[in-house]
Amino acid sequence: MEYVLAITGASGIAYGVDILKKLPSKKVLILSKGALDVARYELKGKVNENTLRGYADESYDEGDFGAPVASGSHKYDAFIIAPASMNTIGKIAAGISDNLVTRVASICLKERRKLVIVFREMPLSTIHLRNLLTLSEAGAYILPASPGFYHGPSKIDDLFSFVTSRVFDIIGVENGLIKRWGE
Ligand SMILES: Cc1cc2nc3c(=O)[nH]c(=O)nc-3n(C[C@H](O)[C@H](O)[C@H](O)COP(=O)(O)O)c2cc1C
Repeated sequence: MEYVLAITGASGIAYGVDILKKLPSKKVLILSKGALDVARYELKGKVNENTLRGYADESYDEGDFGAPVASGSHKYDAFIIAPASMNTIGKIAAGISDNLVTRVASICLKERRKLVIVFREMPLSTIHLRNLLTLSEAGAYILPASPGFYHGPSKIDDLFSFVTSRVFDIIGVENGLIKRWGE
């Protein structure tokens, strides 16, 4: 199995880091320039760019159009964007493929592969909502990074685990990250 994860320049980088750390191999990471900007503010050197790349089997910058995943002929099982900035969401919804993140998303939509978009933004403008609807209609899974509370979280990691667990359920990765309702 091969999973591709993009981290883009939205607040909530820690959601993407949690998914990256827990994803089984083979995992391919794409970091946008925006992601590196936000990481400097939100991870404060505790997790730096090299640490992030070290969690992945392969990693690419947004300008690496020569990466295998830039071609529709390269097979992978799912593409997750977490967190997805409203910039990236807007570009994908408009059919723009100007960097490796938007290019891989566009491939997923045309090849009917799993595209999972985890966003954190709030509130949402009408334009954001329209873009998310466009992507949902095109086949993407839209997941707001809004953890549930019924699993009894006691620390911040439990909130990340909830979102990661829902992403893994969608892409078919078996996980016991949270206590499920009814268990
Ligand atoms: C500290 C910081 C936090 C940001 N938070 C958000 C956010 O939550 N949502 C968002 O859409 N953009 C956010 N931005 C702005 C994006 O990073 C910016 O639009 C960037 O161009 C996104 O590029 P990308 O989509 O290629 O990663 C933030 C920027 C910084 C520096």
